Amino acid sequence: MAVDAKEMTTPVQGDQKLIEVKNVSQEFKLPNGKELKVLENIDLCINKREVVALLGPSGCGKSTILRILAGLITPSKGNVFYHDQPLHDLNTGVSIVFQSFALFPWMTVAENIQTALQSRGFPANEIDDRAQKAIQMVGLAGFEETYPRELSGGMKQRVGMARALSVDPEILFMDEPFSHVDALTAESLRAEVIDIWAAHDKNPSSILLVSHDIPEVAYMADRIVVLGTNPGHIVKVVENKLPRPRDYRSQDFMKMVDLLHEIITGHEIPDAPEPVLKPNEQPAAEPLPDTLPSIMVGLLEYLDAREGKEEIFRIATETEREFGEVIKIVKALELLDFVDTPKRMVVLTPDGQRFVKATSQERQNIWKEQLLKLRLFKQVNEMLTKHPRARLGADLVQEIIIFNLPSENYEKTFEIFVHWAMFGNLFAYDEDTKKIFYPRKRVYKPKPKANGKAEGVGDATVPTQATETAPTAETLDSVNTVEPAPETPKPEEPTPKT
Ligand SMILES: Nc1ncnc2c1ncn2[C@@H]1O[C@H](COP(=O)(O)OP(=O)(O)OP(=O)(O)O)[C@@H](O)[C@H]1O
Ligand SMILES: [Mg+2]
Repeated sequence: MAVDAKEMTTPVQGDQKLIEVKNVSQEFKLPNGKELKVLENIDLCINKREVVALLGPSGCGKSTILRILAGLITPSKGNVFYHDQPLHDLNTGVSIVFQSFALFPWMTVAENIQTALQSRGFPANEIDDRAQKAIQMVGLAGFEETYPRELSGGMKQRVGMARALSVDPEILFMDEPFSHVDALTAESLRAEVIDIWAAHDKNPSSILLVSHDIPEVAYMADRIVVLGTNPGHIVKVVENKLPRPRDYRSQDFMKMVDLLHEIITGHEIPDAPEPVLKPNEQPAAEPLPDTLPSIMVGLLEYLDAREGKEEIFRIATETEREFGEVIKIVKALELLDFVDTPKRMVVLTPDGQRFVKATSQERQNIWKEQLLKLRLFKQVNEMLTKHPRARLGADLVQEIIIFNLPSENYEKTFEIFVHWAMFGNLFAYDEDTKKIFYPRKRVYKPKPKANGKAEGVGDATVPTQATETAPTAETLDSVNTVEPAPETPKPEEPTPKT
């Protein structure tokens, strides 16, 4: 069903507002007692009869905003209003469709929906009727007695939608609803949701969609709120006045997709010059993008095969990766100085070129060199250099991460840190003891003869880093260690290929 674009974009009157957050910030207390700032100064309003999308990288707080608007979390700061009244409890006008479907596996399709209606307190005599209507609405007729395990991902999400719609919500929240559904099914489900929403005399009046997917938001939303991270904030709000029904292949649609790409690229990998540091000023530690070294090397090789450069959108299309994912990989490579990102291009730097042309051993060394330019790796390395046979507890390294990057998820950052360090054979990590230490390499060492003179050739393990001072019990204790490190455990990542 087509909707008049003009009608959707009429200016908002005061009484057009449904839900609003004003000056909202959110902090979470971490297990170590520190606060993690997730959102800062969010102002956002969802009006009657509109579809709003939140678009942003993983961890920028999209789901947190959704949970605040649904009344599932009270924000640390700021206010939430529903129909201009402060919201202090669950928002009764909202119903949520989850990414993970969240169905009860032991219940049939009908029972899953009926249970949701019961828990919302609908009278018993209305439950069957409402469930049946919702089942019809999403094209599940005939599947009432089916169990979730017998359904495809797309059909499961239809049940999720029916369950959310059965309570007749004024606003439908959808948190990455189609990311576990195949592309074609996702396309048709989006169109069906818009058809359901477009019936003016019925609920839902409005939809709040959370998504990573640029074409998805360009297809569905009237307003796209682009978010950035550290802490989550609004980068830009884009009005999308494309007439409905929208065509993914039309010129104007592609222009909208391009505009959103530009905004994200400009914000996530800006062309801004490096900040100039005053003498003695330490550079701030850099957040580590969540990506694996093998994937980063894959992109370097991809660029090498294209004369060292490619446009970022094209990389996403050709490698069939989500744009946000490509941004992460590019940011990681930029951090290691392997690529530059002038405008939309990703270009190999001299170090990047040196890396792709190098042998496996040389690659490991270059990787290590680049890592040691980063504050986090440098700091851990400095601690280990002082007592190279020491083993640092993971908790100590996590403390360093928290200190340097207070708004990052320290466990995730630690995981990335370990992957990157092991890939360059800079540090080793033992999962069992939760210790970080220098990897060992085997070197020739003459076997002492009974009389103390060397005899033949033996071998022993020594730290790969040169050391001038042998560790003492005192220095070892200060870094939480008791014994020399054992043999290097196998890295989870394959070593760089030749
Ligand atoms: N209850 C909580 N306690 C501590 N940290 C939390 C909590 N909920 C969320 N976070 C953190 O807040 C940040 C934002 O989380 P959120 O789930 O809102 O992000 P998102 O944008 O939805 O990410 P994704 O796209 O990966 O779903 C993350 O770093 C997350 O680890
Ligand atoms: Mg989320």
